[in-house]
Amino acid sequence: MTGAAPDWLEARAPFDDAAREQSLPLLESAAHTLLESTDPGDTVTVVDLGAGTGKSAAWFRRHLTPLLPDRQIAWHLVDGHAPSLELAGEAFPDAGRLLSMMSDLPAALGEHLEETSGRPAPGSLLLTCSAVLDVLTQADVDAVLDTLTRCRGLGLFLLSITEHWHLDPADPRDEQLAQAFTDHQRWGDKLGAHGGQTMAQSARQRGITVETSESPWRLHAPQDAEFIQRFLAERVAAVVEAEPDLQRVAADWLGLRTRQAGGDEGLAVTVDHVDVLLNAR
Ligand SMILES: C[S@@+](CC[C@H](N)C(=O)[O-])C[C@H]1O[C@@H](n2cnc3c(N)ncnc32)[C@H](O)[C@@H]1O
Repeated sequence: MTGAAPDWLEARAPFDDAAREQSLPLLESAAHTLLESTDPGDTVTVVDLGAGTGKSAAWFRRHLTPLLPDRQIAWHLVDGHAPSLELAGEAFPDAGRLLSMMSDLPAALGEHLEETSGRPAPGSLLLTCSAVLDVLTQADVDAVLDTLTRCRGLGLFLLSITEHWHLDPADPRDEQLAQAFTDHQRWGDKLGAHGGQTMAQSARQRGITVETSESPWRLHAPQDAEFIQRFLAERVAAVVEAEPDLQRVAADWLGLRTRQAGGDEGLAVTVDHVDVLLNAR
């Protein structure tokens, strides 16, 4: 499979970290539940799904560790892309690594945990992910939920993109391009902008408790100009791939937005994300 470009994951990491500050109440709620269902000295198993090069796992480790005093935390990273997982292993050498597609998760993770930190006791497993649900299919979501239900665990799935973005100043073409991008993200059977919502709905149908919150990126030129320009250029490339007829409109719009991001008049871009906390304990 093709993974995300490592330099893109590197570039977005500070913006993801800032956005996930808004996810802290859900992380605290997950930690509270894990403390309630384990005793001091017990092992809590945390598995970051779609770990990429390890940026999201590093964030979870930084913020979760102080919330779980007196617990041993066994960290594991799962991804379907071997080169990314290799880089993640260098950044996080004490974590277990599992090369697996999400659809194979229930069997593959069960086997991996048996061989490494051991099968987690009910209530002591936390599955995490960040910026992943949009690239999954319904079958992948079902595989994640099967894993969660079998282990009576928790799931904390952050930064799932939605179809909404807001640019200030607004432009009449913003909505049309957002819609074309949303359509592009649904290639194959991918859930795209519906990933977070689908995970929440599928979990509710299984009787799993669900909480959601929001964690938008808030980007401001001029300080974030370079990232805004790259982000918008990549969106426009995706739009044109999905709808070649939009090439001219998209190129003109990108020219305007690039000038605004690089100039003094300012450009603010908010990119909406949904966070989902699941409790299958
Ligand atoms: C946008 S990256 C996010 C990486 C990391 N969570 C972060 O925040 O930096 C999405 C990751 O999900 C992985 N991925 C996508 N679809 C997958 C699938 N079906 N099975 C396993 N991994 C998958 C990709 O290889 C990629 O590393």
